[in-house]
Amino acid sequence: MDREQRGKNGSIPFSEDNYTHNIEKAGERKLDRRSFMKMMVGAAGVFAVSTLPWGTIAFNELTGIKKKTYDPKKIADAASLNVGDAIEFAYPGEHDSALLVRLGENEYKAYQNACTHLKCPVFWSKEDGELLCPCHHGIFDVHTGKPTAGPPKRPLPEILLKTDSGAVFATGVKRYET
Ligand code: FES
Repeated sequence: MDREQRGKNGSIPFSEDNYTHNIEKAGERKLDRRSFMKMMVGAAGVFAVSTLPWGTIAFNELTGIKKKTYDPKKIADAASLNVGDAIEFAYPGEHDSALLVRLGENEYKAYQNACTHLKCPVFWSKEDGELLCPCHHGIFDVHTGKPTAGPPKRPLPEILLKTDSGAVFATGVKRYET
């Protein structure tokens, strides 16, 4: 750069077509209340739309009103479980503890057995014909999973079953339906 192109104090004088000429500083800095509100409403709209699918998923998970289906999983051979007995299994995940109770020759019921009060394991009392939680004496009806005594207010999540070729399979989880 030669001497004529420099300003008085040696600074570089920007010509009209340099890349900063279209910035009107006064205008750029003007953000009145109306513009600010418009910007905030726009941002809120973008946020709402972008989070909508997650909100729907979270709603379904938290309310548990949707019946869930998973890959069928064999629980037991019918011949290995006498009428009136129960066995533990895990479904749908390996940490989702559950109970299968054989109530009759062809009648089975299964529930996830984490108590709906404070998650203690619920067990089958053959003598009483009830599902019992020892922590605070919660009792659940084995036919419906609904609480009948103690502090639990919500039913145990029921596991959907099917029998096939002499075996009992878990096919899904039904939650909090009345
Ligand atoms: S944890 Fe089951 S009754 Fe409290």
